[in-house]
Amino acid sequence: MSVMPGLFISFEGGEGSGKTTQIRRLESWFSQRGRAVVVTREPGGSPGAEEIRNLLLTGDPGRWDAVTEALLMFASRRDHVERTIRPALGEGKVVLCDRFADSSVAYQGYGHGLGAEYIRNLWHVAIGDFKPDLTLIFDLPVDVGLKRAGARFANVSAAEDRFERMGSDFHQRLRQGFIDIARENPERCRIIDADSDIDTVSERMISAVSSRLSAQGTG
Ligand code: TYD
Repeated sequence: MSVMPGLFISFEGGEGSGKTTQIRRLESWFSQRGRAVVVTREPGGSPGAEEIRNLLLTGDPGRWDAVTEALLMFASRRDHVERTIRPALGEGKVVLCDRFADSSVAYQGYGHGLGAEYIRNLWHVAIGDFKPDLTLIFDLPVDVGLKRAGARFANVSAAEDRFERMGSDFHQRLRQGFIDIARENPERCRIIDADSDIDTVSERMISAVSSRLSAQGTG
């Protein structure tokens, strides 16, 4: 029996872009089409990487210097790739990942100013040329995103808000980072305009995924 090829899709964007809701919708969309789906996230996604997540997302915004933060991101990512993502793809599953290495390029490279090239070098050292088959970048104006994220955090009073509390210049640099990433990787990345209601954004996402699947001949 031939196994369907696995499919690795990452979801990217700034704070409050609604990608977590959209991941759930895409999970149902694939399940309805008979595909086995694994939903995972970064930082995290394997037991070791979840422990590193806790170090990364709690505490003062200045808890880690930029280089240490980037190294922790890639340490957790390597564990996640080796123990969760690659095995699932090997079984022909669809892997939907809430953030992946492009977040390190945007947050640590652009946001914290380490530079995209520096992060791409770490990417190569940690996981070689492993990358998503498709990256969906949920884009919206920074003030809209921070307002949405603020409402969410007021509700949960969560402690995992270290990045949300960085200044608005930081978030502007992030947005530019993701736009540059999409421009430099047109075959892999699709920008989804996320400044609309949930159903409209879902339609845009499904259309990007469908066109990618038919281009691959697996749709
Ligand atoms: P999370 O609560 O999962 O936020 P979101 O819903 O916005 O994805 O926290 C993840 C945070 O970690 C988020 O603020 C982005 C940041 N991050 C990086 O800075 N670099 C990375 O490589 C990754 C994966 C995440």
